[in-house]
Amino acid sequence: MAQQIEKVGVLGAGLMGHGIAQVAAQAGYEVVLREVDEATLAKGVGKIEKQLARAVEKGKSSQQDADAVRGRIKETIHYRDLADCDLVIEAITENLALKLEMWKEIDEIVKPEAVFATNTSSLAVIDQAAVTGRPGQFVGLHYFNPAQVMKLVEVVRCVTTGDEAFDTALEFARSEGKLAIPTKDKAGFIVNRLLVPYMLDAIRAYEEGVGSVGEIDEAMKAGAGHPMGPLTLADFVGLDTLGSICDVLFEEFRERRFARPPLLRKILSAGWFGRKTGIGFYDYSGESPVENPGI
Ligand code: 3HC
Repeated sequence: MAQQIEKVGVLGAGLMGHGIAQVAAQAGYEVVLREVDEATLAKGVGKIEKQLARAVEKGKSSQQDADAVRGRIKETIHYRDLADCDLVIEAITENLALKLEMWKEIDEIVKPEAVFATNTSSLAVIDQAAVTGRPGQFVGLHYFNPAQVMKLVEVVRCVTTGDEAFDTALEFARSEGKLAIPTKDKAGFIVNRLLVPYMLDAIRAYEEGVGSVGEIDEAMKAGAGHPMGPLTLADFVGLDTLGSICDVLFEEFRERRFARPPLLRKILSAGWFGRKTGIGFYDYSGESPVENPGI
């Protein structure tokens, strides 16, 4: 039996967190969106407001509905505002130590019957569940970027997850209009286990001179029907995030397909994280992206 969810806490208003918050508010939930400081919070909320305004402009939403969605999102920099949430989803940086520290604090504050979920892309869900006093009420809810558009949510059961919490998470994702696919707590789950080696292989193909950045991307779009080529996708996901995910997968499985290609390591050393920094495999500073000449 699934638990009744009315209020959802979202930790982190970055690339994933702002989208997760918007999707929940659009589905009618009261949302509390928490960030570390006012400036980061305002940036995330600004993105939501921009998306809502765009939907009104396109005639996909009425101004009234957009205002109602915005009105359901309460922003905060304090954990205490999440105290009466029924479900808390974390979407902070992909760093286990930070996540553990955060869960320990949250666990003390949020009501004991609430379900906790991590949006981790690759870290083991059990490692986070185990630091809380509610490992039976802990799941993975893995959204895809952009969360407002991508249909899938992977719902991850770890070894301690109880049936009620798992059903609650499945029902919650479905109530947002998502396709909820259950999966086990194996690093990368379904999608990243397949998608990450694909992006890494595209980087290796470029290193080996198989094609230019643009040629590899155009080939996969036209030849395999993908909406974005693999290097554009890597920039879109964030090269720092891709680097963290492949490190976790490599550590877990010790397979070459998950290893960081040398070029990725160098790009990251340069501070080129893709779209979020305006430069990665492509330079996004102009009207349309051009291949990064430094690569
Ligand atoms: N937020 C909200 N809506 C957005 C958006 C965003 N960031 N980006 C695009 N959209 C909406 C647009 O408003 C548009 O809506 P409409 O159809 O109602 O007008 C619709 O999406 C299509 O957008 P565009 O016409 O601008 O552009 P495209 O048709 O090229 O679609 C895309 C953009 C949906 C991002 C598409 O290119 C795509 O599907 N790319 C692949 C994305 C992907 O693979 N994501 C998964 C990454 S892996 C991951 O997230 C896992 C993690 O763990 C790493």
